[in-house]
Amino acid sequence: MSNPKFEKPIFFLLVGGLGCFILSFVVMGLSPWTSLNAVTQAAKSKENPYIEKDGTISSIGRGRKVYIREACWHCHSQFVRPVAGEPYRYGPASEAWESMHDIPQTFGTRRIGPDLSREAGRRSDDWHFAHFYNPRTTTPQSVMPGYPWLFEKSGDAIVPKQEAIDLVAYMQNLGVHYKDQIQSIVYPKFFKVSGFPSGGDIDIDRGRELFVQNCVGCHGDDGRSNERSSKFLRPRAANLVDRYVSPSEAYAILNRGVLGSAMPSFREMPERDLWSLAEYVGKLGESTQENVLSKLDPQKAKKGEVLYKTVCSACHGPSGAGDGPAAMALNPRPKDFTRRIFDPQYLKSILNQGVPGSAMPPFSSMSDENKENISAYVTSLYRKDL
Ligand code: HEC
Ligand code: HEC
Ligand code: HEC
Repeated sequence: MSNPKFEKPIFFLLVGGLGCFILSFVVMGLSPWTSLNAVTQAAKSKENPYIEKDGTISSIGRGRKVYIREACWHCHSQFVRPVAGEPYRYGPASEAWESMHDIPQTFGTRRIGPDLSREAGRRSDDWHFAHFYNPRTTTPQSVMPGYPWLFEKSGDAIVPKQEAIDLVAYMQNLGVHYKDQIQSIVYPKFFKVSGFPSGGDIDIDRGRELFVQNCVGCHGDDGRSNERSSKFLRPRAANLVDRYVSPSEAYAILNRGVLGSAMPSFREMPERDLWSLAEYVGKLGESTQENVLSKLDPQKAKKGEVLYKTVCSACHGPSGAGDGPAAMALNPRPKDFTRRIFDPQYLKSILNQGVPGSAMPPFSSMSDENKENISAYVTSLYRKDL
């Protein structure tokens, strides 16, 4: 005897359909819900960065609103996928609790610009301001639009409105828990290179080409830094003509960037290109190197030594290597004089003004003679073999 019910295909379709529905509900609905709950529960101790203690919306929260309003998410994702290559580019894969306060979430789907989930600490605040006003200032070939309406004129200067300040606060909060980890990836702190190009000749023309593509926005067409970027950047972009930076030092700087300044890391570039750039940086300062070393007066340098040891060496180090006892606490770090040479006129202006945006103080009350002696001593610290 057969039950006619079981002979109807509709019965199997119903049971099968319902079964699939229940299975997917459990696998894709219930189980992630419980595991997500466990994750966010564990992260409950992390405060909601978008809300102040008194319940009002914080600067970071307002910045997030600007981010959504300006549709930055059309071009930027905020999700580091757990697949090969991603952690190398952007840091650890995204975790659920990071976006638990994000309603609506801003994962984004397209990456015309880089992923931003680990942006905290990668760039300095002034880098962001210059970049938001006009991305071509910091990144000459960028297709990102400028957002000049987040800024206003104040006399000669262009100053960020509160909205821009909020947006930067938001940027500096993206992946803030990974900040240290990211900085040790992006800017290895004690990274010194004494190596040389790994095979083949260095192509100085390629160096110039890369300089035009990547550096002129901040350092200016002639390498002396330009007015456009120095409106924003403290410290301003280094004048690479009135100083000689040895290629091995330039290579190290290009790898790690200068923490505490807008100078970015270019470690994603192929090694050969980095060396071409490093050689080009050396070339920019070539005439300074020749002129200054040949005119060095050992008599003056001798006189400058005592003064240097009392005033400068706490930061710049007894041998001039930028490693004085106070140095490790400072970002940007004091410059290493064993690997660079400054034009005396330029050095004098630094001693007069200091370097705004860094710990380098002005020494305007020092006599001209002392300035000259110290400057000669600083030059004598240069070591050709490094
Ligand atoms: C048309 C697409 C586009 C839009 C819209 C856009 N960006 Fe970008 N963004 C880019 C591209 C391309 C880059 C890489 C080149 C550069 O650095 O400018 C970039 C770079 C960035 C960077 C630098 C990341 C890093 O550290 O290298 C930040 C920060 C950023 N954008 C934030 C924003 C914010 C905030 C907005 C909205 C106000 C926005 N972007 C809108 C395309 C876009
Ligand atoms: C976003 C602006 C910006 C861009 C782009 C930029 N720089 Fe810089 N650069 C700076 C700033 C600011 C400093 C000053 C850091 C300081 O004073 O410690 C600097 C410093 C340097 C120094 C160190 C000078 C010294 O004596 O320590 C070198 C070398 C250098 N840049 C080379 C380059 C090269 C090459 C490129 C292009 C591949 C480049 N920079 C792109 C802003 C920039
Ligand atoms: C409190 C610490 C400190 C003292 C003291 C100090 N410096 Fe500096 N110096 C710095 C720091 C930090 C920088 C890096 C600034 C930068 O990144 O642009 C610097 C940078 C410099 C530069 C390079 C500026 C440039 O454009 O790259 C010169 C030259 C210099 N110092 C000379 C001296 C001399 C000479 C003395 C002694 C009379 C001295 N400094 C004393 C901290 C110090």
